[in-house]
Amino acid sequence: MNTDIEGRAAPVYYYEKLDSTNTTLKSLAYEGAPDGTVIAAARQTLGRGRAGKCFESPPGGVYLSILLRPERLENISTLTPTAAVAVCSALERCCGLKARIKWPNDIIYNEKKLCGILCESAVDKSGARYAVIGIGINVNSDSESFSTELHGIVGSVLTETGRHTDIDALICALTEELDRLLSLWRHDARCALDAYRRLCTTCGKRVDILRGEERDTVYAERIEDDFSLLVSYPDGREEKLFFGEISIRKSE
Ligand code: BTN
Repeated sequence: MNTDIEGRAAPVYYYEKLDSTNTTLKSLAYEGAPDGTVIAAARQTLGRGRAGKCFESPPGGVYLSILLRPERLENISTLTPTAAVAVCSALERCCGLKARIKWPNDIIYNEKKLCGILCESAVDKSGARYAVIGIGINVNSDSESFSTELHGIVGSVLTETGRHTDIDALICALTEELDRLLSLWRHDARCALDAYRRLCTTCGKRVDILRGEERDTVYAERIEDDFSLLVSYPDGREEKLFFGEISIRKSE
């Protein structure tokens, strides 16, 4: 593919197949790869998801990771929601798709998960801390590409709209949206907060919080200024959730 993006200083590397774009980019980062380096792959053999789960990455997807070397990393938890906003913008620009966010960072359309985001932070060989944001979007994959346990949960742009997407164009659009938002993020870690609140469809719904075998039904009140989710329990108690898995109750 053509990986030149006009005016972009850092490289964009594209591979037909990788184990994981996050793992590969972390190796490059360790050796000193520059801020903004992007790695994209047509498929992954060991795609990694949150909570140590694997992320199925069949052909027809966009699997992309971007390296950040910000001056301060105390706001790192705001990177994932910021990237989620960038993904929604890229999908709208490139596929005409109005995708939405399920807190904290799943991109959904027609109640199907189209994209997951995994942000990791580590230290390179000079001792400098960096972050890698990894994004996996199901684009032209058909439902048979995914294992049966994901059927009905996961979708792709193709399965949900019937339209094929130009993968190169989506990689370019996503890289541009990430570059734009992440450069704002360096000055203001809440730069994407208003957009995130508009795009997130979790609030105002009854949701289940999943913690191991435990499941608590709560009401999703609002997104706080730090992107946490404020929930209320039936007894009136409130809690701020900073991460974790929730499932939206179907009947309400
Ligand atoms: C999740 O929903 O659990 C997060 C999934 C993140 C997947 C992306 S695909 C590109 C990058 N490389 C990986 O191995 N994982 C992330």
